[in-house]
Amino acid sequence: MTAQPVFLKACRGEPVGRPPVWLMRQAGRYMPAYRRVREKYGLLEIIRTPELAAEVTLQPISQFPLDAAIIFSDILPPLQGMGLDLTFEPGKGPVIGNPIRDTRSIDLLGTPPATETMGATLEAIRLVRSELTSRNVPLIGFAGAPFTLASYAIEGGGSRSYTRVKSLMFREPAAWKRLMTKLVTVQTDYLLRQVEAGAQALQVFDSFVGLALGPDDYRHNVLPYTRALLQGIARSGVPVIHYSGGTGAYLEVVNEAGGDVLSVDWRVSLAEVRHRLGADRVLQGNLDPVALFAPWRELRTHIDTVLRDEGGTGRHIFNLGQGILPETPMENVTRLIDYVKGEQ
Ligand code: CP3
Repeated sequence: MTAQPVFLKACRGEPVGRPPVWLMRQAGRYMPAYRRVREKYGLLEIIRTPELAAEVTLQPISQFPLDAAIIFSDILPPLQGMGLDLTFEPGKGPVIGNPIRDTRSIDLLGTPPATETMGATLEAIRLVRSELTSRNVPLIGFAGAPFTLASYAIEGGGSRSYTRVKSLMFREPAAWKRLMTKLVTVQTDYLLRQVEAGAQALQVFDSFVGLALGPDDYRHNVLPYTRALLQGIARSGVPVIHYSGGTGAYLEVVNEAGGDVLSVDWRVSLAEVRHRLGADRVLQGNLDPVALFAPWRELRTHIDTVLRDEGGTGRHIFNLGQGILPETPMENVTRLIDYVKGEQ
């Protein structure tokens, strides 16, 4: 019998000899192999072609001794199935061509099943699972959290002040509820289907919520929906990671959403998170992704701080505090992983 992967044990809070390590957005432009595929295909084309998505998912696994793979997709394609036009524009990032600007467009949003709209990703999961099983590397499925998706759907792209999404939230509470409820429906189904297809853990990305909202607005307008999503996918039986960006000031509230693992960014120290949330909480994070651009001595100090601040509980999955950046030097990724695994 093959040993249970250290990543899955750590997710469940079981004792592990060392922290598992993987990197958010580990398949991406910092890898020459990824850039070669991107020279030929658009991002959405890769996502919508199971064989290409499977190939790209495996690239970082072949290159580095990572403890988990994450299926290659993005948080935004499920919005296409709801009726929003999504493109990725060079230098600009994601753009929604027909953003939500009134309550009527919320009522027009569909909630089709993931088998109809995200079939390519589900197929990619099936394809990579057979390959990963032979390497004993577990596969993570993922989706965006309701707030981060609502923010893209309403703002139409990235945002600095989140004026439009927050205005709708403040002015039209009934419409906000309808929108968030639709997003929970779509994302719950999508995540459960990913598990059926072979995902062995799930991560929910709420990347922007803490950059937009204070604790009271989070509690009243976001927490109920994120909690409903995390509860809805708990019945899949696989561990669930909740990534919450920018919410260091009110992690106690975020913690109430649930999930087996809480993933935090680098703007808060793990020592403080431990102190505030206790020794039992399984934490993921939280190296500053820009530390990977530093010379090794400096990078090592940052890694040591993360490892030390976790507090010696062993309830920790090493990761970045946010997705890895496009220009990241490959050799520092290798050194980071070897160092965390104690092989250097
Ligand atoms: O982790 C992985 O390897 C899986 C793939 C993955 C992508 N996006 C592929 C991608 C995952 C998990 C995501 C999640 C995602 N997408 C998040 C949450 C994670 C985080 O960093 O907070 C967010 C906010 C998005 C939305 C998004 N997608 C943005 C803002 C951008 C443009 C910015 C950028 O990095 O270019 C994308 C594009 C994107 N998604 C790329 C990749 C590899 C780069 C696109 C390219 O190849 O041109």
